[in-house]
Amino acid sequence: MIRRVAGAAQVEYHDSLPSTNNRARELENEGAHDWSVVWAGVQTAGRGRRGRRWQAGTGEGLLVSVLLPEAWAPMPQAPSLAVGLAVARVLDGWLAPGSAEPVVEVKWPNDLMVEGKKVAGVLCERWSGERLGRIVAGVGVNLTQSEDDFPQEIRDGATSMRMLGAGSVDGSQLLADILEELRSMDGETAEEVLAGLQARDHLEGARVVGEDGVQGVASGLDPSGSLRIRTAEGVVVHLVAGSVRLVPQGE
Ligand code: BTN
Repeated sequence: MIRRVAGAAQVEYHDSLPSTNNRARELENEGAHDWSVVWAGVQTAGRGRRGRRWQAGTGEGLLVSVLLPEAWAPMPQAPSLAVGLAVARVLDGWLAPGSAEPVVEVKWPNDLMVEGKKVAGVLCERWSGERLGRIVAGVGVNLTQSEDDFPQEIRDGATSMRMLGAGSVDGSQLLADILEELRSMDGETAEEVLAGLQARDHLEGARVVGEDGVQGVASGLDPSGSLRIRTAEGVVVHLVAGSVRLVPQGE
């Protein structure tokens, strides 16, 4: 079914799909227009980063993938951070309209956090074959879940717009807002995007450990979007990819 949403070249809506990113990849291969969007009511094989699953019951989340133009490059080495910033700004508008202080934080590299819990995630992918495809930006926003709706293993760390008091969020409007923000970010300099991320840095000053065991204090992002970790020896390590976990107090 084709839906009309402001800012989209076309929106292909499916009640159910394995993964909107997979379908967007097919559209990319078929030469679909920039800003084409795939939207699903539910995904049967929704994907998160690093092989993780992204689960949301029917209608519980906004599950969309956007075909970004080749030239859309507010942060070329770390597009998921730039997309995350766009979504964070939009969610702020729903959660704290008019507030000058950011509410939604970005947890490097792709989690959107409020009050220490994840409300949305971003999965940017591009596939190389005979040619390098355009970036597919997959966005999942938890909308209507209550605590019990989340799988046991993520329950403590997950939240939804409803749980955060946003009331009923219209998916079409939220998607239109995200597209508008993504489009307008194209006019921002890399410095502005970096500053926007620094202002929402969930990890700033926290003790973290990376997958490869490097441990230290998260100390902001470098201009390419890598996470800086200052180790106990005073060495600054730049994490280009992967993920980190917060080190609990006393560990
Ligand atoms: C993460 O937090 O690890 C990223 C989650 C990204 C989930 C979205 S939902 C829409 C799109 N389709 C997918 O299969 N994944 C992304």
